[in-house]
Amino acid sequence: MNFLLRRLSQASLLAVAFMFLSNASTRADDFAGVFKTKCAICHAPDGSGNCPMGTKLGAKDLRSDEVQKKSDAELTDAIANGLGKTMPAYKGKLTDDQIKGLVGFIRDIAKKK
Ligand code: HEC
Repeated sequence: MNFLLRRLSQASLLAVAFMFLSNASTRADDFAGVFKTKCAICHAPDGSGNCPMGTKLGAKDLRSDEVQKKSDAELTDAIANGLGKTMPAYKGKLTDDQIKGLVGFIRDIAKKK
């Protein structure tokens, strides 16, 4: 009986760990997905801005030092409130969590360049 209980609690620990892990990975994927659907039209899927809209509007390479040296707060502000004439404001369209996740995504793609 004790043995069974122990096995049972091990199994549920594993299940919790698995749920946690799989949840974490879908969240990271979510932000790549959000970037692809909402941002890639102007920033290109890799953030380079190498796409017709990006070139036309003058979107900078998000992986460049110029953009990366900005603080998380500045990047968050650009996404939430927009920038210049053409970078749209996403406050109200995206949740705070999503905007935060996108800032993390922009840091990630710079590391992968
Ligand atoms: C309609 C085109 C367009 C879309 C869609 C767009 N952006 Fe932008 N974005 C721009 C342009 C153009 C700039 C540069 C604005 C400037 O410097 O005047 C910019 C600037 C930025 C900056 C600041 C970087 C810098 O140049 O200092 C960030 C961060 C950013 N965009 C993230 C995003 C994210 C994240 C999304 C999706 C949620 C997104 N953008 C969607 C056009 C766009």
